Amino acid sequence: MQKLWGGRFTKSTDSFTDHFHSSIGFDSRMYHEDITGSMAHAAMLGKQGIIPQEDADLIVKTLGEILEDIEAGKVTFDEKAEDIHMNMETILISRIGDVGKKLHTGRSRNDQVALDTRMYTKKEITEIKALVKNLLVELNTLAEAHTETILPGYTHLQRAQPVTLAHHLLAYVEMFKRDYDRLCDAYKRTDVLPLGSGALATTTYPLDRYFVAEQLGFAAISANSMDGVSDRDFCVELVSDLSMLMMHLSRFCEEIILWSSHEFRFIELDDAYATGSSIMPQKKNPDMAELIRGKTGRVYGHLMGLLTTLKGLPLAYNKDMQEDKEALFDAIDTVKMCLPVFTNMIATMTVKKDNMLQAAKGGFTNATDAADWLVKQGVPFRDAHSIIGHLVLYCIEHNTNLDDLSLEEYQAISPVFNESVYDAISVKQCVEARNVIGGPSKAMTTKAIADNKAYLEKL
Ligand code: ARG
Repeated sequence: MQKLWGGRFTKSTDSFTDHFHSSIGFDSRMYHEDITGSMAHAAMLGKQGIIPQEDADLIVKTLGEILEDIEAGKVTFDEKAEDIHMNMETILISRIGDVGKKLHTGRSRNDQVALDTRMYTKKEITEIKALVKNLLVELNTLAEAHTETILPGYTHLQRAQPVTLAHHLLAYVEMFKRDYDRLCDAYKRTDVLPLGSGALATTTYPLDRYFVAEQLGFAAISANSMDGVSDRDFCVELVSDLSMLMMHLSRFCEEIILWSSHEFRFIELDDAYATGSSIMPQKKNPDMAELIRGKTGRVYGHLMGLLTTLKGLPLAYNKDMQEDKEALFDAIDTVKMCLPVFTNMIATMTVKKDNMLQAAKGGFTNATDAADWLVKQGVPFRDAHSIIGHLVLYCIEHNTNLDDLSLEEYQAISPVFNESVYDAISVKQCVEARNVIGGPSKAMTTKAIADNKAYLEKL
C-alpha cells in the first residue's frame, strides 16, 4: 500500500514498524470527530474558493456516507494507514478519487489531531459532568434522609465528636461540587479551535478559521499556530481533574469499606454491589469500592505519564504526542465506569442507624461538650479541658462513660458540676448545639441541602 506521504520514499515501511507507530488501534474512536472536522474544513475550502464548491460538496456528502457506513459496521480500518486521519482520507479517495485528494488542502495532521482530540475531550467532559451531577443529586438526597442520623466523626480514625450522616455526606457534596466546577473550567480551555494552525506555521491559503469554529461549535480559535499544534495542556488538565475526582471517590470508598466491616457495621452494601468469597461462605466483600480505590492509581499514573511525555518536547509537534491518547482515553473510561457504580452502590446501601448511634455514644465523643459546658459556667477552657481529661481517665479506669457517671462522681472532681451537664453532653445535644454555618445541626444541614438543590438545578 502506497502511503499518503510516500512520495519521497523509495522503500515501504517495515511491517513491524508499521504496527509500532500506528495509532488506529486506539484513535479510531475519534472517527466521528475526524469526519465532522473534515466536513467543516471542506465546507470552508469551498466557501473561500480554495477548492471548487462542487468538490467541497461532494467531499462533505461522501464523508457523511462514510460516517453512516462506519456506524453500520461496514468499514474496517487498516493499520498500514497509520491513524484515523489517514484511514479516513484513504477511504474518501477510494470512493471519489481525485476530488478526495483535495480535502487535505491547507491542513496538516498536526492541527487535525489536535482538533479531533479537543472535540472528543469536550464531548467526554460533558458526559462526565452529567455523571458527577447524578452523584451529587444522590448524595444530597441521601443527606436529606439522614439529618438526624448520628454517627461519630473521626480524627486520626479515633472517635472525635458526634456528627450526622447528612453532615458527613455533605462534606463529599462539597468535594464533588468542586470537581464539577473544575470540569467546567477544563472545558473552557479545551473549547479552542486549533485547525488552521497547519503543520506548525498556518498556511498560505485564505482560511476562514472563524467559520470552521462556528460550524464545529468552538468558542474561540487558537492565537498561535505553534501552540495550536503542540498544546496538550487540556489533556493534562482534564486528567488532573479526573485524578482529583478519583481521589475523592477513593476516600469515600475507603470509608465504605471500613463502614461495612464487622468492626464498624455502619452500613450494609446491597447484594448487587458486593461479592462473595470462593472459599469462605460467610463473606460479603466490598469489591466495587476496593476496585474504585484501586483504579484511582491508574488514573494518577496517566497524569504522570502525560506530564512526563510532554516535559521534554521541543516545539512544535512531535510524534511522542501520539502517546497522549491512550492515557487520556483510559482515564476517561475509568472515571466513566467508576462514577455510576459508585452512585448506585451508595444509593442501594442500608444505613444501620442504631450501630452508628451506639458508636457515637462510646469513645467519649461528648468530652469537648462537657468541657464547653464547664466554660459556660465560668471555668477557663484550659482548666475545663484538664478536668474533663481527669474524668475521662476515671471512666476508662471504671469502664464507664461520661453520661453514666453520678453527679457525686462529677462533683468529686469539680464542685462546679450540676444536673444540667447531662443534657449538654447527650450526643443529640452535642450535634444540635453545633449550629454554626457549616456545622452538623439539623438547621445547618437542612439549609446546606436546600442550597445544594438550588445549585444542582442550575447545572
Ligand atoms: N496519529 C498522530 C498522533 O496521534 C497524528 C498526527 C501525526 N502527525 C505527524 N506529523 N506524524 O499524534
